[in-house]
Amino acid sequence: MKPHCDFLVIGSGLAGLAFALKASEIGSVVVLSKAELSSANTPMAQGGIAAVMSTADSFEQHIQDTLKAGAGLCHPQVVRAVVEQGPERIEDLIQWGVQFDADATKVLELTREGGHSARRILHVGDHTGLEIHAQLLQQAQKNPKITFVENNLALDLITNKQVEPFDMSPVRCLGVYSLNKQTGVVESLTAKMTILATGGAGKVYLYTSNWGGATGDGVAMAYRAGARVANMEFMQFHPTCLFHPQNRTFLISEALRGEGAELIGPQSEAFMKKYHPQGSLAPRDIVARSIDAEMKRTGVACVHLDASHLGKEFLQQRFPLIYNKCLSLGIEIHREPIPVVPAAHYLCGGVVTDLFGQTDIQGLLALGETACTGLHGANRLASNSLLECLVIPHNAVQKIKENWPQIYHWSTPRPPPWPLHDKEDADELMVVTHMWDEIRRLMWDYVGILRSNGRLQRAQHRLANIRKEIKHYYSNFKTQSDIVELRNIATVADLVVSCALQRRGSVGIHFNIDEPEAPTDLSVPGSRDSILGPGSMNELS
Ligand code: FAD
Ligand code: SIN
Repeated sequence: MKPHCDFLVIGSGLAGLAFALKASEIGSVVVLSKAELSSANTPMAQGGIAAVMSTADSFEQHIQDTLKAGAGLCHPQVVRAVVEQGPERIEDLIQWGVQFDADATKVLELTREGGHSARRILHVGDHTGLEIHAQLLQQAQKNPKITFVENNLALDLITNKQVEPFDMSPVRCLGVYSLNKQTGVVESLTAKMTILATGGAGKVYLYTSNWGGATGDGVAMAYRAGARVANMEFMQFHPTCLFHPQNRTFLISEALRGEGAELIGPQSEAFMKKYHPQGSLAPRDIVARSIDAEMKRTGVACVHLDASHLGKEFLQQRFPLIYNKCLSLGIEIHREPIPVVPAAHYLCGGVVTDLFGQTDIQGLLALGETACTGLHGANRLASNSLLECLVIPHNAVQKIKENWPQIYHWSTPRPPPWPLHDKEDADELMVVTHMWDEIRRLMWDYVGILRSNGRLQRAQHRLANIRKEIKHYYSNFKTQSDIVELRNIATVADLVVSCALQRRGSVGIHFNIDEPEAPTDLSVPGSRDSILGPGSMNELS
């Protein structure tokens, strides 16, 4: 592996790949991935990517839908900038080889999802992410300026303050310490610019649609290095994940509701119109809360999504992934409704950045789900995430091009070696596994769809104790990926709880039964963005 490069990209999902492809026009790129390149949230994306591609739609409508879903907390100038770039970034995807579904005359087939007032979701069947990821990966793998390093887990950012504690200049990122999971060796990798594209944090919760490595590593690393994070309480719950003894993580795409599937209760009654005029296609936070309320009201363990009236042929052709997955579990979706429940899905908060991915730390960018740009506000509009994963990397590279002569001359002093511990403990594995379960369960029970001040305080108290124990294991034992990730989910969980406790009232995804009203005056402290900077949480590890 090259120990030094121009751009060190941590993450090989859509945000990391889009950045790598564009930045390779400027300099050398190393892309780090903590598992195989195919493991990420991106290849799991089903519904599609939102962009204004038809004359029946307009930028203004897409902007309004995004603002409305975001419950008044989106940053309007960010929303406009992202939406207006949509068609150009879709063109990038097409140039990179993505073939979206289209009719015989090559007119794109657009679908709908919750909160969208028009058909504007481009898709490839119900496996849009898989196709996008495969095409971009193929482009990047044949690019001689891009090197991929798999199974390498970034542990912590290296900054100028670690090299020279009395350095009075602003914090600058020099690279990362990274664990080679095969050899167990920790290496220091340096770069002119380090890019956090580490994805989301669904694994902080017991039930999630996310892949197993969505442990919020980028957010935790950035926070530890001194960057601000924001709006962490807005963990979006997807309303419809499969509820089956053998699978509680598989997503049943919102696009199915976009094509007419209905949510039904135990008496086969369609219940969503009771909660919102858009029915099953209401914004995601509302649908998830309504399902939760129906489950509690009727005492059932799940609700059902009825797509049977769409017919076998249509379902097989338009939703092959979902059709076959359900069939493999004995559910014939053209004959019977699909059992579904909400699960943690998307982190709307993250590392604070501008429209160019710039964090508070010089030389450090954050992109994709790791970042909080202000686009999603208190609740992300469906299919806006993949779009953001394209727009911000594009902007970032444009800005770097303008400033490259200065960036090129940034020096990279040699970082101190990683402190080595080779002690192992037979009890360690059991304790670590227990702490994983405890955090994920307490987040699900106390910091889930409905929160209260008491539950949040209880969660904070428990997390403080668990983090103390983790610190002991992390500081005294051999560096191993399960402890590293455990430390990160604990930090992220604490950030979620701290933001939730800061927030006044209930808005978007965050619903506090003790303060159910939405804030009317956003100038009141705790009503707009909840921001955590260095020192605002108990600094344990
Ligand atoms: P990811 O694609 O998750 O990539 C993260 C990368 O970071 C991985 O390569 C991982 O190995 C690496 N990484 C993480 N930590 C480390 C570390 N410490 N060291 C080294 N590498 C690390 N959004 C839409 O817009 N439309 C959809 O239809 C849609 N459907 C979805 C369906 C599902 C089931 C899920 C889970 C999400 C869906 N989303 C959808 C959300 C969207 O897929 C993600 O937000 C987006 O793909 C995130 O891309 P990313 O590049 O930020 O992160
Ligand atoms: C889905 O297909 O329902 C997921 C879409 C998204 O998360 O944007």
